[in-house]
Formats: sequence, C-alpha cells, structure tokens
Amino acid sequence: MEKLTGKVKTCVFISGRGSNLKSIVKNSRKKNFPAKIELVISNNPKAKGLLYAKKNKIPYKIFKFENRKIFELKTLKELKKRKIKLICLAGFMKILSKNFIKNFKYKILNIHPSLLPKYKGLNTHERVISNKEKFSGCTVHLVSEKLDSGKIIIQKRVKVNSNDSPISLSKKIVKIEHQIYPLAIKKII
Ligand code: GRF
Repeated sequence: MEKLTGKVKTCVFISGRGSNLKSIVKNSRKKNFPAKIELVISNNPKAKGLLYAKKNKIPYKIFKFENRKIFELKTLKELKKRKIKLICLAGFMKILSKNFIKNFKYKILNIHPSLLPKYKGLNTHERVISNKEKFSGCTVHLVSEKLDSGKIIIQKRVKVNSNDSPISLSKKIVKIEHQIYPLAIKKII
C-alpha cells in the first residue's frame, strides 16, 4: 500500500443521520488533522447527513444501492476521479463486496456500536441489554472482506446501567463514537 502524505483525501459513506460525519468534518478542520473530507456518498437520498454536507459545501453523491454492482462501479469511478485515499463508513448500512474492497486499494474504516468481536451486525444495543452485559461500547476497525471483522484500531467501553434502554445506551455510545472516529483516522494515517 502506497505511503500517504499531506492531507489525505477522504470520503465518508453514510445512510442516515450523519452525526459521525459531522464530528469527522469538524475535527478535519483542525490544523493538524491528517485528513480532508472531500466527498460524501450516500445510498439514501433522504439521509439527514446530506443536508450537513450541503450546508458545509462538501461535494456529495447519491447512488442507489438496488444494484450493488452499479453502486460500486459509480462509486469507484467517483473516488478515482477525486483521488480519494481513505474511506470512512459512518452509519453506512450496506455491505460492500469483496471486489469493491479489493479494487479500492486503500484503507476503509468502519465504526460499529459494540465491543467487537462481540455483537457484530444489527440491533446491537437490544442484544447487549437482553444479555445483561455490564459493558458495551464502540469500535473503529479496518474493513476486511468479512463483516465487522477487520483489524481493530480503537475501541472504547461504556458502562451499561440496569435501567438503560437500547435508546439510552445508543445515545451514550454515539457520543463516544464522535470522539474515537477522528482519533482512529489520525492513528491509521
Ligand atoms: C452509529 O451508531 C454507528 O456506529 C452505526 O450507525 C450509527 C450511525 O450514526 N454504524 P450517524 O449516522 O453517524 O449519526
């Protein structure tokens, strides 16, 4: 893999709210941050995060995911055109193919709201609570060809209280996500 120098051109993939996008963009504006967010890609035209991109004049593209092959072809073309060297998946609710991961050739990061390797996949908070876990948290990891399984870059725990609901737990965890995603970007560049 080629050594990255200067501010690394970065693309954030979203599907919804975009609060991690917001935190990454805010941090990227700090002087010594090693990445610049040059593009946002969403599979969902209604993703709230797109409004933030628009407001902040970050170029964005919406590619529907009905046909993954077409989504990936269009996306790879756009990434190449803009010389993107890092992808951050931030609430991107689709699974990229092995072929896409292989063809991108640079690093792809993802954030997951659990202490991986525990609770891969969806409905994490519900499962954590019904299993009466004492701790949960979030993980930023490199994306490999297996779901939620690449090398862990940063992980942070939070306490699960006996009165936590999936909503209250997700609120606690997302705040920590906003801290660790920018740190993880710094760490891997
Ligand atoms: C976060 O909890 C993230 O861990 C998960 O999806 C959620 C996205 O939130 N993958 P947001 O769109 O960044 O607000």
